[in-house]
Amino acid sequence: MPPDGSTKIFLLLLPFVLFTLRICHGGKILIVPLEGSHWVYMDIMVKALHSRGHSVDVVRTNKSWYIKDDSPHYKTITVPVTEAFNHDFINPILKKIIDIERGESSAMSFASLQVEMFTAMFNMHRIMCKMATIMFQDKDLMNSLKERKYDMVLTDPAWGAGIMLAHALKLPLVYNVRWITSGEGHLAIAPSPLSYIPMTGSGLSDKMSFIQRVKNLIFYVIWQAQDGFLIGPQYQAVCDEFFGPEVRYSDLLQGADLWLMRADFVFEFPRPTMPNVVYMGGFQCKPSEPLSGDLEEFVQSSGEHGVIIMSLGTFVSELPADMANEIAAAFAKLPQKVIWRHKGDRPATLGNNTLLVDWMPQNDLLGHPKIKLFVAHGGTNGIQEAIYHGVPVVGLPVFFDQYDNLLRLKERGGAKILTLATVDKGNNFLEAIEEVLTEPSYRMNMQRLSRLHRDQPVKPMDTALFWIEFVMRHKGAAHLRTESYRLPWYSYHSLDVVLSFLATVAVITFLPLVFFRYARLEKCIKRQTNKK
Ligand SMILES: *[C@@H]1O[C@H](CO)[C@@H](O)[C@H](O)[C@H]1NC(C)=O
Ligand SMILES: *[C@@H]1O[C@H](CO)[C@@H](O)[C@H](O)[C@H]1NC(C)=O
Repeated sequence: MPPDGSTKIFLLLLPFVLFTLRICHGGKILIVPLEGSHWVYMDIMVKALHSRGHSVDVVRTNKSWYIKDDSPHYKTITVPVTEAFNHDFINPILKKIIDIERGESSAMSFASLQVEMFTAMFNMHRIMCKMATIMFQDKDLMNSLKERKYDMVLTDPAWGAGIMLAHALKLPLVYNVRWITSGEGHLAIAPSPLSYIPMTGSGLSDKMSFIQRVKNLIFYVIWQAQDGFLIGPQYQAVCDEFFGPEVRYSDLLQGADLWLMRADFVFEFPRPTMPNVVYMGGFQCKPSEPLSGDLEEFVQSSGEHGVIIMSLGTFVSELPADMANEIAAAFAKLPQKVIWRHKGDRPATLGNNTLLVDWMPQNDLLGHPKIKLFVAHGGTNGIQEAIYHGVPVVGLPVFFDQYDNLLRLKERGGAKILTLATVDKGNNFLEAIEEVLTEPSYRMNMQRLSRLHRDQPVKPMDTALFWIEFVMRHKGAAHLRTESYRLPWYSYHSLDVVLSFLATVAVITFLPLVFFRYARLEKCIKRQTNKK
């Protein structure tokens, strides 16, 4: 039966009806992001949420580093602070870490590196707690946030302010997560046997010898100690002040409705997980777009040799001059063209094949057929983009999780790792680059990872958007959350059950024995008395 007039009109109007319905049902989302690269990628999600008709407010500080005040995609809520996490904070730490790594004694350098990282972590969370305190003390701000009637809070839980804000506003909580305040995200909610789950910073893979498992345990203890003494108490103090001591910060952290995990099992070693963990590794990746005229011309000028790109991410703005010189000299010896994101002084040894840039369209370059190699620091996002586009990596990790990320690629034959301590010694840098360029297995392995990563029923970003909207539709996702985190450790491991069971068995076994002994004794005594 052909559709009659009114049906036709209805069908014509249907897309508009659906579109307006979607706008009407657009949610209100409060985002508490992290700075630096974490924001760069959160911003991609903000744009996607905005384009689906949701309204987004972003909490930032008045000293914000990357989060701009004016954007067509979101409104900002600016918290006035005297100290913030920005380049003033990170640059001195970076300098010290590079100095320590390039120092001589390795045992000493490990210890001082740990001390340096502990101090940095402590201060980072102190700044965050200060920011949260300023917000909670500002009654007007908190009231206006309550009146906005948000549907949910989306936060990066590597800092805890968003977690506490969600509790204060009694809103469902969704994470854009890989790190939490106490380490890798899974460790907080999913069973994580130390026998095959390597701790961050240990430099171990999922195949460990006995000695390596000892090392893994030591790293676990270090992470626990850092959380127990340096980080947890700071957040707990804020909870105590504003919510009362019965509210445990660790419960708030573990009690989030949904964990959108920035990893997938092409990248991460397989491990146990939970129903409310949704994997969206590579959510920011998309097919490359054409390069700008100048850049395309430079890339094409490389001819058959192709192009190498180098970027050490948003945190590392400058390398020491002598190291930059060595790297520039190595690049100058190559027939390839090089695009290098470098902010310091122009290295004296820079070859005419190398283009220095402040910023590069990394995704578009990685997807360009002329790109042969990516020299990267090993941040999660850059690694995911390299996997998506199948480009082999020479890694130069600086801090945080960067070595461990690169290790996952190296284990799968897609990367070679250098260290800050040795990158400028001998021909290390040049040799690493030449090896990865000439040995075809690196490229083949990365291409295989790329095929695996892309072979998913739904794109990671669409998965993430679905689940964010799911949480808004159902006002949370408590039914997916296990109750494990509410248990004390002895109940979690069923130690109390085992002990009471053993006690019962013991009583049942020994009671008759004792009874018979006693009875026999009685009899003896009776007999003795009778004899008398
Ligand atoms: C941010 O706010 C603080 C506290 O009110 C103030 O001291 C500081 O000057 C402000 N900074 C900027 C960059 O506006
Ligand atoms: C770049 O330098 C090399 C050797 O230093 C030289 O042979 C070549 O002509 C130079 N190319 C350009 C475009 O200046």
